[in-house]
Amino acid sequence: MVHAALLAGMHKVCFAEPWNEAAMAGMLAMPGSYGFLAAAADRPQGFILCRSAADEAEVLTLLVLPGERRHGLAKALLAEALAKAQSGGAASMFLEVAANNQAALALYTGLGFLQVGRRPRYYGGQTDALILRKALVQPGGAW
Ligand SMILES: CC(C)(COP(=O)(O)OP(=O)(O)OC[C@H]1O[C@@H](n2cnc3c(N)ncnc32)[C@H](O)[C@@H]1OP(=O)(O)O)[C@@H](O)C(=O)NCCC(=O)NCCS
Repeated sequence: MVHAALLAGMHKVCFAEPWNEAAMAGMLAMPGSYGFLAAAADRPQGFILCRSAADEAEVLTLLVLPGERRHGLAKALLAEALAKAQSGGAASMFLEVAANNQAALALYTGLGFLQVGRRPRYYGGQTDALILRKALVQPGGAW
């Protein structure tokens, strides 16, 4: 069982408006939530937290600690989450990303996410949020 305190501590390192332990515990307790932790020799490196409901999945948060970046960890975490969402029956994965987050945007578009919406001045009343979606292929019926 992953502890909310650990994840909140990592979130604090990576986001200007981090989720505290209680908020993280709330996310972990939501129906349909799941996540993956990247760790080396018991040293946590990053994690992804998602939620699936009906045929839609959503990335709630994704981070890799600063000293662990550019080694493919986020890509691997996202690939795991996409596979789980798909095997659970999701037809698409959604996420929100700040319009000025070049690293995350490069990651997501590289994995096939496309912009489907924009929320003006969503972050801190200043920065737009982009809504991205990736279609997940579900096995069709036999013919
Ligand atoms: C965004 C983030 C998760 C990427 O993690 P990472 O483990 O470094 O990413 P990866 O090594 O898997 O990179 C995969 C691809 O993403 C893109 N990418 C990642 N970091 C990048 C950067 N700093 N600049 C440009 N492109 C970047 C590249 O296309 C990269 O592929 P490449 O290495 O073959 O060029 C990490 O920078 C982070 O935690 N940032 C702070 C939190 C955050 O913004 N989370 C996302 C919120 S929506």
